[in-house]
Amino acid sequence: MKISRRASSLPLLSWIFIVLVVSGAIIMLGYLIRDLIRDGWTINWWDLIIWAFLVIIAEKFVISLPRGGAFVTVGAAVDFAIIVLFGPAIAALFGLLGALVNSWLARKVPFYKLLFNMGQYVLTLGTAAIVFRALGGDISDSGIGSSILPFLVCVPVYFFVNNALICLIIAFTEKISPIRVWLVNFRWTVGHDLILAPLGLVVALLYKVSIWSIFVFLAPLALARYVYKLYMDLRGAYFDSIAALASALDASDPYTKGHSDRVTKYAVQTARAMKSSEREIETIEFAGRLHDIGKIGIDRSILRKRSKLNDREWSEMQKHPVMGSEIAGKLKFMKEAEDYVNYHHERYDGKGYPKGLKGEEIPVGARILGVVDAFDAMTSDRPYRPALAIEEAVRELERGAGQQFDPIVVDVFVKLIRNGELKVEGHKVKEPEPKPQQNSKQELDLKPVKRTPQFSK
Ligand SMILES: [Fe+2]
Repeated sequence: MKISRRASSLPLLSWIFIVLVVSGAIIMLGYLIRDLIRDGWTINWWDLIIWAFLVIIAEKFVISLPRGGAFVTVGAAVDFAIIVLFGPAIAALFGLLGALVNSWLARKVPFYKLLFNMGQYVLTLGTAAIVFRALGGDISDSGIGSSILPFLVCVPVYFFVNNALICLIIAFTEKISPIRVWLVNFRWTVGHDLILAPLGLVVALLYKVSIWSIFVFLAPLALARYVYKLYMDLRGAYFDSIAALASALDASDPYTKGHSDRVTKYAVQTARAMKSSEREIETIEFAGRLHDIGKIGIDRSILRKRSKLNDREWSEMQKHPVMGSEIAGKLKFMKEAEDYVNYHHERYDGKGYPKGLKGEEIPVGARILGVVDAFDAMTSDRPYRPALAIEEAVRELERGAGQQFDPIVVDVFVKLIRNGELKVEGHKVKEPEPKPQQNSKQELDLKPVKRTPQFSK
């Protein structure tokens, strides 16, 4: 795991932390190399070349996660093999190599990030290897038996040092709690990391038997990457079909054309600004596309009705979140989006539907969808009124914060608009305007009409 965030101007605390990490790494490396020279250089050059090659290959085997911003590598498996095989000094030196290779592959990494990554890699691998050796870990002659316990201890040490250093630098840079950084960004990597650790040990043991066994390691890696790519392609195709269905539903009404696309775009940007995890953002993206898919089951005469809905029609209309969530729940890759679709018309004050959930009871993804859905409805033409100006729609959101909307989501979303980070693409209907009619019920909690009681104080 590496730091890869952009930071145009780093706070002083971040600089101090980088200097501490780099100094600590230099001191550790100095001691380790001194010990290595004192004990005699026993590594063979072939080993160095092969493992340097493996470090490079492992960093190259980057698997992009669906949202593109995040990625995983199998570098930790190679790190553990190196720790077990070669001990602290060589492990720390390979850490330096890993950071250099990664920065070279990433291109244009600012100098301070390169220094920090080199420092944190040296500290991570060095500390884990020191712990492994100090507890008696050694697979050279005594076999694996005595190394199991030291290995079990060195694995959490490796991940603790790595995660702690990364979370602290992000926390100092972005002025948020390091625990939150970990929970939001890295908690989900634990399972992946725990698989890589024993894989590293197995590779080390195989390597002791025969250097060529390393290819036994590379083959499944290549296969895993290929299978993963197939899976991602299939998932993409599946998702595109559903998105096409949602767009077709939007397009069937000139007033909602492009609505799901815009809601998805706004929701993803807001979730990203709220530092949601990549997984969460992906779920929000699915839910954004599908949030109104349940309208497929609503009578078209109700959907297209330009006048006020009667009670029967209104209760029919209110079924669309539940119907949508049932559809989402049946889709293989989109199960988690189910709740967001179901609750996108809940209100922060508990007066929404279908369940009347309140505040934090509503999943955060659904609260985000609620805000951006309303905003898009306001900034798009509707049969009963033209689109509102952006500033006017923003004021309506602020007025509804704490009542209809989650105030934190409104705050983040409005900041994105005011900073110019979010491009608003309100939808204007090209066909001649139908005669405007006041409709107070059809989209009760979407509509921006400031005359309605829910937005006024
Ligand atoms: Fe809806």
